[in-house]
Amino acid sequence: MAKHTVVTMPGDGIGNQVLPEALRLLKAVGFDAEYIHADIGWDCWCREGNALPQRTIDLLAKHKLGLFGAITSKPKKEAEAELAPELKGKGYSYFSPIVTMRQKFNLDTCIRPCISFPGNPLNFIRKRTGGGFDEPAVNVVVFRQNTEGLYAGVEWTNPPEQVRAALAAHAKFKPFASVPGPDLAISVRVITRNAARKICKAAFEWAQKYGYKSVTICEKPNVLRETSGMMEEEAKAVSKQYPGIALWSTNIDAQTMWLTKNPEEYGVVVASNLFGDVISDAFAGLIGGLGFAASGNIGDEVAVFEPTHGSAPKYAELNPPIVNPIAMFLSAVMMLEHIGETGKAGRIRAAIAAVVKEGRVRTYDMMRLTGGAKAISQGAASTIQMTDAILAELQRSKPAESETCEFAGAKP
Ligand code: NAI
Ligand code: MG
Repeated sequence: MAKHTVVTMPGDGIGNQVLPEALRLLKAVGFDAEYIHADIGWDCWCREGNALPQRTIDLLAKHKLGLFGAITSKPKKEAEAELAPELKGKGYSYFSPIVTMRQKFNLDTCIRPCISFPGNPLNFIRKRTGGGFDEPAVNVVVFRQNTEGLYAGVEWTNPPEQVRAALAAHAKFKPFASVPGPDLAISVRVITRNAARKICKAAFEWAQKYGYKSVTICEKPNVLRETSGMMEEEAKAVSKQYPGIALWSTNIDAQTMWLTKNPEEYGVVVASNLFGDVISDAFAGLIGGLGFAASGNIGDEVAVFEPTHGSAPKYAELNPPIVNPIAMFLSAVMMLEHIGETGKAGRIRAAIAAVVKEGRVRTYDMMRLTGGAKAISQGAASTIQMTDAILAELQRSKPAESETCEFAGAKP
């Protein structure tokens, strides 16, 4: 019997291109696992009226470890139009399977490392005032609360009467009280103290484990006084248990501006759901963008790892595939780290780093080409060639069993 079981959910579009490539790397480092395929995504919605079928939930509940590619989601009207004829008008409504999965298994801690690889032509550079430029090494890990906030799903257009009545109890609702129901959309930002504390604690634990000098709480407490206020309050309380790690507090709007000014200053960043989503994409833009942005969704029991990119439908049918599989590979590396296979994780990470640094094999995004079939004739590597290059590097550099390369290197 294999040592580990991994539920693989390639999903839609390019998820089907990148996830199988990750399995090739896992095999090459001798990861002893059985993979169980699980359905998720748009086809499931169209055929079954549910993008996250119960059988997939059952597999995750049983095996507790998942690798996910990407899914397609479409607006309400299109979703209804593409539903199988026999399901139409039966009350099915589309929910994002990945958001549902996070809530169902309480995958409340989302970890999104944004760590630059030396030699990546997509790395952020900063002009010097006197000419020339710097390429600051970005080594940021974003902790995003994954189940609450504005993504909790508590929202209405045309809110029911009780909701309107409750809102009317708030003085600030007065200017909106006479807006007709169909013209009124409300999303509720729910923050609970326990979840706020937990994500802050996870951020500080990570900082301590990997030697980061600061944790930045990135919210907006001057305006969102209650919800961001609670996040900040808990960050402050938790920080007292980590005297060696500085707590910085920034506002989400200012932070998106500052991060191009001094990205090397930041270490661990923690935020609520939407702000974490925003700020992790912003930092990812400094280290190569969607082709390099990996993530882990971690709960107390279940953990699912996924690239942050979506299904990129316009590239899904290309043969050979052209998308960059590195974000998926780094997600698999995070999975290995999570289950304690740090040596294998380090080997894959080092092989990716070597291929990026050498710069001989680059996918279209790394060459700043426009995506499409012609990218290959313009010299871009295919998804498979990128995997092959990393595999070759793994072969070439077979390290001693004891050699490890930590997930996120300590800051200098
Ligand atoms: P997307 O991430 O799929 O693609 C945006 C663009 O980024 C692509 O057109 C491509 O130019 C580039 N890109 C994405 N992944 C890449 C990779 N691995 N290598 C190189 N370039 C890459 O986002 P988009 O176009 O907004 O959404 C497409 C579909 O994906 C939608 O249905 C959306 O709902 C869904 N989506 C799903 C996510 C998930 O599964 N977690 C996350 C984001 C979007
Ligand atoms: Mg996002």
